[in-house]
Amino acid sequence: MIVAAAQTRPEFGDREGNLRRAFELAGDTKADLIVFPELFGTGYLFESREELEGFAERLDGPTAAALKGFSREKRCAVYGGFPELEEAPGRGEGKRVYNTCALAVEGELAAVYRKLHLFIDEKSIFDRSQGEPLVLEAAGARLGMMICFDWVFPEMARSLALLGAQVLCLSANLVLPFCQQAMITRSIENGVFTVLCNRVGAERRAGKELCFTGLSEIIGPRGELLARASGEEEEVIAAEIDPAMADDKWITPRNHLFEDRRLDLYHLGDPVHSD
Ligand code: ACM
Repeated sequence: MIVAAAQTRPEFGDREGNLRRAFELAGDTKADLIVFPELFGTGYLFESREELEGFAERLDGPTAAALKGFSREKRCAVYGGFPELEEAPGRGEGKRVYNTCALAVEGELAAVYRKLHLFIDEKSIFDRSQGEPLVLEAAGARLGMMICFDWVFPEMARSLALLGAQVLCLSANLVLPFCQQAMITRSIENGVFTVLCNRVGAERRAGKELCFTGLSEIIGPRGELLARASGEEEEVIAAEIDPAMADDKWITPRNHLFEDRRLDLYHLGDPVHSD
């Protein structure tokens, strides 16, 4: 199986141009799975909830349609992000907007993952997902879905691995410099592949500035760096992987990543302070 990440530089608000350029960039890539960045059609730095709502789209909107069309044309699976509008989710409720990634497989919408861990000001403008860690078999592997800041919670990658994920698909708009290194550890501790697709460029809006750190990467289950992009350029990286390697959780002849856990001893609840 060949996996790829298309590292793009979206211009804020130019959805049509951003989608066109992203699919042009990835157009010659021969891969079974191509990951695009988080919010790769719209850009990231929304000034307000109202502005975000203006860009939010339903699951039959332009980005999901473009992902489906590209996956049909390339006969592959693609994973990429957009602000998802859910109208009237319950009686008496207004709209909800989620930071979402869709997985499209050969022309069909196969899965929708709504980001579970919102980052800084996303907490003020996006709705919190009530979803769960999601794994789906597609393109020859069991894919675990993640969006950007999900990386900082080891429980997230571990949950996906326990649910059977062989490849973590991480669609990102990273600004902190830690994730690319951290995902090497996440891959090792869970014995899985990672396809991390970040964006490059900067956004300056409403007195704020964010610089996105690129360095998209493909990592093997023992932490092998199979491919890594630059920190500044738009580019596609790709690697051939055998997803079945992620089914071997023996990290030494006598140590199994799952069976050796001490589930009776870990503290997973609220912090306990002792002064
Ligand atoms: C992030 O979650 N976009 C850093």
